[in-house]
Amino acid sequence: MSFKIKMQEATKGKDSKIVLALDFPFESPENRDKVLAKAQSILKVVHPYICAVKINHHLVLPLGTFDGIRRLVEQIRGQGLLAIMDAKVNDIGNTNQVIAEYYYSAGFDALIANPFVGWEEGLKPLFDVSKRLDKGVILLCYMSHKGASEGYGQTIIDPETHMQTPQYMLFARKALMWGADGAVVGATVPDKIREIKQVLGQHVPIYSPGVGAQGGAAETAVKMGADYLIVGREIISASNPAVVARRLSDSIKGI
Ligand code: XMP
Repeated sequence: MSFKIKMQEATKGKDSKIVLALDFPFESPENRDKVLAKAQSILKVVHPYICAVKINHHLVLPLGTFDGIRRLVEQIRGQGLLAIMDAKVNDIGNTNQVIAEYYYSAGFDALIANPFVGWEEGLKPLFDVSKRLDKGVILLCYMSHKGASEGYGQTIIDPETHMQTPQYMLFARKALMWGADGAVVGATVPDKIREIKQVLGQHVPIYSPGVGAQGGAAETAVKMGADYLIVGREIISASNPAVVARRLSDSIKGI
C-alpha cells in the first residue's frame, strides 16, 4: 500500500488531518532520557487527535536513530499513526539513498525531501528506494518561513515554455511528474496553497506547516487546499496538548 493511501487510512481511522511535529527545545545531552520521556508522554495523550507524527533533528540528534527514535517510532505506529522524518533530504543521489535506507530501517513511513537538488543523481535514487519499500516522499514546494520567498518564491524561466514562472510552480509540477506522495506548502502563504492545489489536484496531497506559532491559520489553509496540517509548538507548548490537538482537529472538520 502506498504512503498516500496509508495516510488516507490513518486519517479515516483517527478522524484527524493533524500531523504532530514532535519538536522540543534544546536540552543538554545528559537530559536526553528526559526528552524521550517527554515525547512519549505527549504522544500518549495526543494520539487520538492526530493521524501522523513528524520527527525532526530536535529528536534524532539527542536520541539517536537506532536507540530512542526507533522506540518512539514503534510507539507511534502502535498507536495507529504514521511516522514522517523531516530530513529535508538534499544531497547527491548516493547519499540520499543511504539516508533513506537508515531512516526506513528505523521504521519511518516517509521522508521530506528538497527538490532543489533535481532528479538525475539527486532525488531519483531516493524515489527509487522509497517506491521499492512502499515508503513515501514528500517534497518541499514552498516553505513556511519568511525567507522562503528568496528561493521557493523566486521568478525563474520555465525550461519548457521559456516564460517567467515562480520557482514553486515548477516544484509543484515536479511533484506530480516524479510521483511524490505529498507537497509541503506553508500555512503562512495561503494564496500559494491555492495556486499549487490547482496544479496538484487530488494527485499529490498538500501538507501545511506554520499553523499557530508561525502565524498561519488552520481553517484558511484547509479552505485553500491543504490536506494535512503539520503542527508543533501550538500543541507541544500548550498547558494541555490534548485539548489543543483536539480543538485544531475539530476546527477543520467538514471544510
Ligand atoms: P511549529 O512549531 O512552527 O513547527 O508548528 C513546524 C515544524 O515543521 C517544520 N517546518 C517545515 N517543514 N517544510 C517542512 O518540511 C516547511 O516549510 C516547514 N516549515 C516548518 C519545522 O522544522 C518544525 O518541525
